[in-house]
Amino acid sequence: MSRNQDRGFWNAAQKHLIRYGGAFEPAIIERAAGSFVYDADDKPILDFTSGQMSALLGHSHPRIVSTVSRQVGQVAHLFSGMLSRPVVELAERLAALAPRLDRVLLLSTGAESNEAAIRMAKLVTGKHEIVAFSKSWHGMTGVAASATYSAGRKGYGPAAVGSLAIPAPNSFRPRFKHADGSLDWQTELDDAFDLVDSQSTGNLAAFVAEPILSSGGILELPQGYLAALQQKCRERGMLLILDEAQTGIGRTGHMFAFQRDGVTPDILTLSKTIGAGLPLSAVMTTAEIEEEAHAKGFLFYTTHVSDPLPAAVGLAVLDVVEEEKLVERARSMGAKLFAGLSSLKQRYECVGDVRGRGLLLGVEIVKDRKERAPDHQLGAAIAAEAFRRGLSMNIVKLPGMGGVFRIAPPLTISDEELDLGLKIIAESIEAGLAANTSRPGIAAE
Ligand SMILES: Cc1ncc(COP(=O)(O)O)c(C=O)c1O
Repeated sequence: MSRNQDRGFWNAAQKHLIRYGGAFEPAIIERAAGSFVYDADDKPILDFTSGQMSALLGHSHPRIVSTVSRQVGQVAHLFSGMLSRPVVELAERLAALAPRLDRVLLLSTGAESNEAAIRMAKLVTGKHEIVAFSKSWHGMTGVAASATYSAGRKGYGPAAVGSLAIPAPNSFRPRFKHADGSLDWQTELDDAFDLVDSQSTGNLAAFVAEPILSSGGILELPQGYLAALQQKCRERGMLLILDEAQTGIGRTGHMFAFQRDGVTPDILTLSKTIGAGLPLSAVMTTAEIEEEAHAKGFLFYTTHVSDPLPAAVGLAVLDVVEEEKLVERARSMGAKLFAGLSSLKQRYECVGDVRGRGLLLGVEIVKDRKERAPDHQLGAAIAAEAFRRGLSMNIVKLPGMGGVFRIAPPLTISDEELDLGLKIIAESIEAGLAANTSRPGIAAE
């Protein structure tokens, strides 16, 4: 019998864990190394979501292991008003990577970084309305959750006063189209801001955006969109906050995704990838904004602000990204993965769309390509088949969209591992389709 079927483990899990979203995977994970996690039978499972989109360097990277061991023995945590060298050094390194964003606050989680960013935007502008995309995810705490529209809004009482949303541009399912059927994002953005203006009480503080909406189904802001969005913000005296929890630190083939667009936000938040699996996040802003916030008494005092242990990890992450040329690698391996997934689209009618950038890609599963009708059932079947075959892929299910696989392996993934993943995806599509024989699966030539 498989050790994953340890009845005592699952009974205790059922009895004592609070379920916080979705079902648990049917395996007990004992360890992880590189691009794989290992279950209780020591079966390797290729991790195509880098843990929770965070393990940028793969699991248990030797540099992270040695940094944690060294730093935890030296100094891990301090009184929040005390400074240590790793904190100041990481701030300096990050500032050098993001010109103009010279001031840095180091925190623990993505939600927390967005709380701090929004809090700062409110204080600096003296206003409180926050606009976000309708398929956004910025975190599960208060104000970050108020700016999160892809899930979890119902049942928790009022969102923050002044929470507004605009549609996220979706090239696969455009709401506004040019004559050739392609997405007319400029008209969509203009229309959206007309609505923002009519709802606003004159207190617009900031727009918070992901450059590629990940939990929203890998929706990439088209080229030119960010600049146009920044213009909309400027016209209204709003700050632009970019949340690069998933896109930051090389994943898209740039150190930060905004660099493709030549747009520097007023405030940038980083999390997930900067700690490569350990809890580290950062807020970055300009000296002018930080001075203004400080003059107005900016307060964001937390237990783990400026802790030396995660800061040392952040420094090790930046070192490895540089030494192993992982930004370039995200670009080249991303191109290879994109080509592999696109060939699956040629073969299987149910692969409606392949999109994304670098090593942050999305594959949308549909009933048929022409109508683009969502197929959540098939998506779930493919995900289950893949897991059985040793590949972990996250699927997001959103109303009005098909199941979208979010594919974001570690930037350290090898060619062989990438090929293995593509092979398992193809086999899993075949198996998922076979279990659902009423539908045509193979793409028409
Ligand atoms: C873009 C984005 N921002 C913020 C968060 C929240 O981060 P955390 O879960 O670390 O609070 C997430 C988490 O999935 C995210 O994807």
